[in-house]
Amino acid sequence: MKYPKEYLDEIKTRLKVSSVVSKYVQLKRRGKEFVGLSPFKNEKTPSFTVNDEKGFFHCFSTAEHGNIFDFLMKTQNLKFGESVKTLALQAGMRPYTFSKADEEREKAWKEYMSIYSEYVDFFHSELLNNSEIKSSLDYLRNRKLSLDVIKRFKIGYVRKNFNIFENLQKKFSKKAIKECGIFYFDEKKNSFVDRFRDRIIFPINNISGFPIAIGGRIIQKNSFFAKYINSPETQFFKKGNNLYNIDRARRLSNTLDQIFLVEGYMDVIGLNNRGIENCVANLGTALTEKQILILNQFFNEIVICFDGDESGYKAAVRAAENSIKELQPEKQISFLFLPEGEDPDTFISKNGKENFIKYYETNKILIHEFLFENLKKQSNNSPTSLAVLEKKLRWLSNSIKDPYIKKYVLDFFLGKISALTPNLSKGKQFAIKHVASLSETKKIYNESISITKEQLQEYSMLYLIINNFDFFKKNITILNNIDFITNEGVQVFPKLFELVKSKDEINPNMLPLENNLLKKINKFASVKHISKNIQRDENKLKEIFLEMKKDLKNLFLDRQISELESKFSSDMDQSTLNEIIELKKLQNNN
Ligand code: GTP
Ligand code: MN
Repeated sequence: MKYPKEYLDEIKTRLKVSSVVSKYVQLKRRGKEFVGLSPFKNEKTPSFTVNDEKGFFHCFSTAEHGNIFDFLMKTQNLKFGESVKTLALQAGMRPYTFSKADEEREKAWKEYMSIYSEYVDFFHSELLNNSEIKSSLDYLRNRKLSLDVIKRFKIGYVRKNFNIFENLQKKFSKKAIKECGIFYFDEKKNSFVDRFRDRIIFPINNISGFPIAIGGRIIQKNSFFAKYINSPETQFFKKGNNLYNIDRARRLSNTLDQIFLVEGYMDVIGLNNRGIENCVANLGTALTEKQILILNQFFNEIVICFDGDESGYKAAVRAAENSIKELQPEKQISFLFLPEGEDPDTFISKNGKENFIKYYETNKILIHEFLFENLKKQSNNSPTSLAVLEKKLRWLSNSIKDPYIKKYVLDFFLGKISALTPNLSKGKQFAIKHVASLSETKKIYNESISITKEQLQEYSMLYLIINNFDFFKKNITILNNIDFITNEGVQVFPKLFELVKSKDEINPNMLPLENNLLKKINKFASVKHISKNIQRDENKLKEIFLEMKKDLKNLFLDRQISELESKFSSDMDQSTLNEIIELKKLQNNN
């Protein structure tokens, strides 16, 4: 579905960026622009600017920028269409209608959400006011929930013999009521039955705060019925796309860095009851990528805090394996394991908020550390078991999407493995042993941003040379015709070349490298990990080095071409142009 450009432009001309933004961010005028605290990051000095004239916002600390539609999509987690609708309304324009099918879906959504609202409000009010079902309110009060929290979460109770189906039918179409998931058809009774009857109900809202599903808990101990049931998936409710309490928790992301991800409704409610509101639950399903993305969009650190029992631990392992793929620079995922037999709700009601926070601060474990510890527990020190361990760790780091995180997590794992295999690591490598913990990862990542492509390429080549003297001695011609580009490379490479040619035995003291450069090579040479595997395979080594030589040549030509191009743009000299053409030909033949 594509909105016509005129329609979008009309919205843009009616709404200033600053008036849209200022509903969410406090702005101050500064010259032609407005400034405020970034909604994308916790900060004390404003780095967020809005320019009405140009029609965009820009955040200098996160590099987020865009127009009014982007702003709503990014800060309120709306889809494009939803942000268009919201802003059209704000601009006093009619919502744009698409095809008949779109209109119908829109109508169905309104009806769906109204049915849930009606249902939720009705039984919430019953819980609070109907003395016949006082035992359900007592149950919640016995669990020490405040009235305030019961109201905040609109908890309700569905009386056993009360069927709201008939009442709803007066307002809504039978089709919509049948499809919303609250009722199922009982063949024997030949009627629609409320699946939440005789249960405490917890409304599940979508990210904008509209109820779209329900969780229900029985009160009486009864092994016949499931303790909890949820609405089935419907056209408008997909479990893996949603999180319980995300609508309220996301509003805290301007002031808090962490979000606690727990297993159950009652954990979220219990934590809220004791003053921890930045928490969500994943609705009894395995954690999905989508859920991680939603949480990361708002919070820097996801703390996964499942129950302190075997199934909680297993769920944590699964969550770790799924979510490490999505790990992003600047973001963190950690795990918090509660004492045996506790869940977040019981822990905080016994120990209180301060102790919960303290427990979190001393016991949280970062995702990669947890994954390593978990796999190590399953292995002994036999060669076959260590091989399996290394394979699994490599497979895990390989599943990570971000290339930088991938690299440093692998480095962390390999560091851990080499600590388990001290004799291997003693080997002939001159590389300074470097085991990065992920707290260091951030630092290295930030440093690596300031390192140029040329440097990275040269570090890798130098790394291969200084770790494979024997090979290069036998294949000395491979080092001919290499043009290093950076100052460091230009100075060091010829000396290294001489050394390889002249000396039979080379020891680390002879290396013509400053310690500082050696450190950088060991830190940033991306070839480091593969090189460990290929050392005994000379053909592979040759192939990789030749490939790198080619890439460096291209970088060298790139640089010359771009210098000539700027020269040409000022002198417009035909001979400069000819030179450029020659170089481009060379590049094509490389
Ligand atoms: P309380 O017992 O009320 O404290 O809740 P809890 O959160 O401690 O319950 P538990 O740890 O047993 O379950 C956690 C979550 O798993 C619940 O919130 C439900 O989403 C889900 N769950 C638990 N039991 C069932 C069940 O029998 N069926 C289904 N479908 N989901 C369940
Ligand atoms: Mn519980």
